[in-house]
Amino acid sequence: IGVLTVLVSYGLATVIVRPVHELRQGVELLQKGDFSRPLSRQGGDEIGDLALSFNQMAAALEEKTTDLERRNRELSVLNEVAATVSQSLHLDTMLNNALDKVLALLHMESGALFLLDRSRQKLLLRTHRGLSPAATTALAALDCGESLAGYVAQTGQPLVTSNLHAESRLARDVIREEGYQVIVNVPLQAKGRVLGVLGLGSRTARQITEQELHLLIAIGNQIGVAIENAQLYENLQRQMEELKDAQRQLIQSEKMAAMGHLVSGVAHELNNPLASVIGFTELLLRREQDRTKSEETLRLIHREAMRATKIVQNLLTFSRRHKPEKRYIDINEVIEKTLELRAYAFRTHHIRVIKHLDPSLPRTMADFHQIQQVILNIFNNAEQAMLEAHGRGTLTLVTQAVTDPQAGESSLPTPCIRITISDDGPGIAEEHLRQIFDPFFTTKEAGKGTGLGLSVSYSIIQEHGGQLYASSSPGQGATFVIELPIQAQEEDLSPAPSSPASSEQVFTHKRVLVVEDEE
Ligand SMILES: Nc1ncnc2c1ncn2[C@@H]1O[C@H](COP(=O)(O)OP(=O)(O)O)[C@@H](O)[C@H]1O
Ligand SMILES: [Mg+2]
Repeated sequence: IGVLTVLVSYGLATVIVRPVHELRQGVELLQKGDFSRPLSRQGGDEIGDLALSFNQMAAALEEKTTDLERRNRELSVLNEVAATVSQSLHLDTMLNNALDKVLALLHMESGALFLLDRSRQKLLLRTHRGLSPAATTALAALDCGESLAGYVAQTGQPLVTSNLHAESRLARDVIREEGYQVIVNVPLQAKGRVLGVLGLGSRTARQITEQELHLLIAIGNQIGVAIENAQLYENLQRQMEELKDAQRQLIQSEKMAAMGHLVSGVAHELNNPLASVIGFTELLLRREQDRTKSEETLRLIHREAMRATKIVQNLLTFSRRHKPEKRYIDINEVIEKTLELRAYAFRTHHIRVIKHLDPSLPRTMADFHQIQQVILNIFNNAEQAMLEAHGRGTLTLVTQAVTDPQAGESSLPTPCIRITISDDGPGIAEEHLRQIFDPFFTTKEAGKGTGLGLSVSYSIIQEHGGQLYASSSPGQGATFVIELPIQAQEEDLSPAPSSPASSEQVFTHKRVLVVEDEE
């Protein structure tokens, strides 16, 4: 029995235990990712069958795993390209980065990125790597359908060319002569539209596998979307520039409208000192012998002439087309200068001005002329409103520094200068208060109002980082508040006010205008 037991257990060991053991080892290896060792198939029994199906399973598993690994690699490549192309909205930076990445990933030596010019139906070489000067010239601009890249642009289909000598589409011989063994071209597409072509070339013979081609197509789509984004961004920037331009023009045209208003006032204003000059010179001519008298008269003439010059200077300063230039300025001075411009009109229209200008008001960085334009717009509106309502009025001007923004006194988070301009006109109706800063909103009849004054003023103050708002209770007049952040003096890099040639032209033009007016 003892011997029998030994024999049976030996038999069991060879027939069952060893194969099972082997099977277990196989599973362990499989778990570690080793597919290399198939199990030996012993006998035709169940355990043998088990080993067979185990081997089949291992083979299938190996195939799946390699496939998964490949897909994984492809995905990470795609991810890398996606990360590269999304890094920059700048078209050329993006294209160059993408091309470098693709060449490195696919181990190709030459590459070219073409963009399609829709209007001319041309494929233009935008950037390239590893191309000879001759090839660069030959590929600079291809017709749609011409050569390999042109063909891809036309059909939207990828193209792998490995037998260049037999390739009839290769119109330019340069490429053939340069010893390329394989060339791949894929379209760069976004939303089904071809925007360009990516071409890669290798001088060493190599296979482009199906998978590589699929990967390239996916990369082509990614670059296509990135091109579209970059182009959209470029468009957006251009539109922004156009908008800014239009805004600048609007500011200027509103200024010109205010100019017309000013000129008539200034012409009258000039009459007074000029009448004095003429009167006193005539007097002087008649009484030449009286020395002491003439000296006194001369002083008067001089003073009046100076006044006339100042008015003209002021007007010229205002009418000049200015580049926006922020300087370290005194807001009280802007107000005084603007008041000087309107002094005559206010006097003749019975408009009293009450000033509370804080003498210790800090200076700030601002554009003198633009702020002057804003104040002038508010003055003109107030004047018009008060005259219309009762043919006279009182304008109250207050400047103050708001140094503690935490106190909730101002709408700005930083210390600011506040200018308050109040009139005692009819005020602004509640429902209009929300609209007065809208472009073209006016309650005035055609010819009297453009509806641009306040909207232009608003954008000027916004551009200064400030706030412009109004309050009014009907019948009680209107109050306009300008708040400008107090900014420390900056290095002044803008050219001196007299230098730009373009403004010089306007300058002389306006001088002619004033001289004509004077005659
Ligand atoms: N001080 C004010 N008193 C009453 N209404 C005013 C005053 N300032 C502005 N408005 C109202 O705001 C509107 C828009 O002003 P604005 O943009 O300068 O355009 P415009 O003066 O050409 O009408 C005016 O038409 C007027 O109804
Ligand atoms: Mg106005």
